[in-house]
Amino acid sequence: MANQCNILVTGGAGYIGSHTVLELLNNNFTVVVIDNLGNAYKDEKAEKPECIIRVEKLANKSVIFEECDITDENSIEKIFEKYKFECIIHFAALKAVGESCQKPLEYYKTNVGGTINLLNVMKKNNVKKLIYSSSATVYGVPEKLPLTEDMKTGNCTNPYGRTKYIVEEILKDLCASDPDWSVISLRYFNPVGAHPSGEIGEDPNGIPNNLMPFIAQVAVGKREMLHVYGNDYDTPDGTGVRDYIHIMDLASGHVKAIIYQKTKNIKGFKAVNLGTGKGFSVLQMIKAFELASSKTIPYKIVERRPGDISSSYADASLANKELNWVSTKNIDDMCKDTWNWQKKYPQGFKSGSIQ
Ligand code: NAD
Ligand code: WQD
Repeated sequence: MANQCNILVTGGAGYIGSHTVLELLNNNFTVVVIDNLGNAYKDEKAEKPECIIRVEKLANKSVIFEECDITDENSIEKIFEKYKFECIIHFAALKAVGESCQKPLEYYKTNVGGTINLLNVMKKNNVKKLIYSSSATVYGVPEKLPLTEDMKTGNCTNPYGRTKYIVEEILKDLCASDPDWSVISLRYFNPVGAHPSGEIGEDPNGIPNNLMPFIAQVAVGKREMLHVYGNDYDTPDGTGVRDYIHIMDLASGHVKAIIYQKTKNIKGFKAVNLGTGKGFSVLQMIKAFELASSKTIPYKIVERRPGDISSSYADASLANKELNWVSTKNIDDMCKDTWNWQKKYPQGFKSGSIQ
């Protein structure tokens, strides 16, 4: 039980959080999840969110769950009074790009204000190890590809992206002010897929903003057709190119980051890309999903979506070199696992458990 220690996971009932909690349990970490259930489903009679109940079943281990809103510093303090943490993984945030343009203050309040609350409480309790959920969005419009961690950040195209950039700047300042802080900012590219069991996966509220859940809902018959946002980009087939990364690879990146931080006694701020290094176009994704699901995905080409960039993919060599991490799953795995989850639970977590 070499890794036994308390990890606090904020936003642990969300998409990336729940898969990471499972990976943590499977690596013998003990986990406390806090979440305000703003984007996670909990049956009113249940004690924990549905995804956490399923994670516990998959791992055959238990997770402590506490309902807590990070915009309220006092409630974070109460959590720190109750448990002793070695490290925090901070997922809790609002993440819808379009909504962030309509409600920028809510995004700054949760993503920036909430993070400052968390950092204040960490500082008070002398817990100075953090794994932060950053995003490839901090690179804004790429100057060149692949994206490396030393490239300029901040030229973001929307308020959501700016919150991620601003928090990275805050974390850099914090690390510069006190050499005891250790912060790893994981810049995720495009997370997709689900746990291979199909028991947990992405459960978007309403109409999905992201490509993969939208394709999956078309395949399962919940939506009529996909709108492909533009086919006049400077890419091989004219549609946008992204670096899709399987959620289980992303989850394992967090465990590797914790082990790296601890065993190498890492200090200061370090940004690390988590992507596969390979780009796929929208049309390639449609084809791969059709193959995995044996369904036809009707689509039509429409106008470009404002704020979209043409191409984005990572140079993932730093994660390999420093964290000893490498992505193991390909596009076919991503589509197969998304489809498995989608067809098993077409209504997401609200469908209830299949015994
Ligand atoms: P998600 O919405 O599924 O998970 C976020 C969780 O945080 C939810 O369970 C939500 O209820 C919770 N939460 C929101 N506001 C909260 C608050 N005030 N207090 C407590 N909990 C709160 O999103 P996700 O896709 O799992 O994203 C997790 C993190 O990764 C976010 O920080 C996001 O910005 C970042 N990220 C996501 C992507 C992506 O494409 N999914 C890409 C890059 C970065
Ligand atoms: C992928 C490609 C679209 C939907 C977003 C955020 C980013 C990060 C990940 C959090 C693009 C095209 C999409 C559709 C389409 N999130 N598309 N029809 O925009 O790369 O990144 O999620 O940090 O910050 O911006 O991901 O999945 O929305 O789009 O044609 O219905 O699919 O134009 O080329 P994106 P996405």
